[in-house]
Amino acid sequence: MELLEAMNVIEDQSWLEAPSETIAGAVSKVLTRPTGGPTRLDDFLNGVWLGHPLHPMLTDIPIGAWTVTLALDGLEMITGRPDFSTGADTALGAGILGAVAAALTGAAQWQYTVGRQRRLGLTHALLNVVALGLYGASLACRLNRKRGAGRVTALIGYGFVLVSGYIGGDLVFGQRLGVTHIPEQELPETWQPALADDELHEGDLKRATIANVPVLLVRQHDQVYALAEVCAHLGGPLSEGTLGECSVTCPWHGSRFRLDDGAILNGPTTFPQPVYETRVRDGMIEVRPSNPQPLP
Ligand code: FES
Repeated sequence: MELLEAMNVIEDQSWLEAPSETIAGAVSKVLTRPTGGPTRLDDFLNGVWLGHPLHPMLTDIPIGAWTVTLALDGLEMITGRPDFSTGADTALGAGILGAVAAALTGAAQWQYTVGRQRRLGLTHALLNVVALGLYGASLACRLNRKRGAGRVTALIGYGFVLVSGYIGGDLVFGQRLGVTHIPEQELPETWQPALADDELHEGDLKRATIANVPVLLVRQHDQVYALAEVCAHLGGPLSEGTLGECSVTCPWHGSRFRLDDGAILNGPTTFPQPVYETRVRDGMIEVRPSNPQPLP
């Protein structure tokens, strides 16, 4: 079976839906406020402070450390020299610590997924739990001087890590988890009509489509703001969100953006929202990119 076919089989396992819902609900209970919206811990684990999802960075720790364990275990076996054992065991322990951190950040990111993303994410997590268990057992064997059993257990664990890593890569590159969901199309550089001025009232959030680019128009304190309408986090419709004081909150998972510069006021998104310049001419609200390039 080809890898792509195998991924499709996993994605189609609808029986994973029920456990996914239960686990995601439990994670959300811990990481989101009872009134809705993420807690500071949720923002931290998602990497809002870093401007980049934290999970993919932390996954490098167990994968790298356990690769070192594999290499040193191999050298110990080939050479028969026991002096590789300290390095192998230390790397194994570091990998376990890194795997726990990666699991926490991964759960924070995964709780916001739905459908195929969620099923694939759960499979990825289960494989990692098995790998973590195997590496824990390997460490116990090593501490009890059963190095042969410890090496075999670690080798099996490495197999689970590789499969899980492949699925993790597909979640990012295939399912677009952890990447910006801002559409690729860009506004023309020149002023574009967006909406009649008298159709946007104080406190309104309205969606306009300009050259196939969805734009959010907002009027607050008689000032007109324009931002990308599709939420960078997972594509939520900001025009259906909530207006706050100089901010808009996404209706899907509560990311909050400043109206004037699109900066993140709270996550889970790690990507700011693009903003556009606005003006009113002849009764029309017009929009163009901020800092447009001079026309040739
Ligand atoms: S889609 Fe998740 S916060 Fe907007």
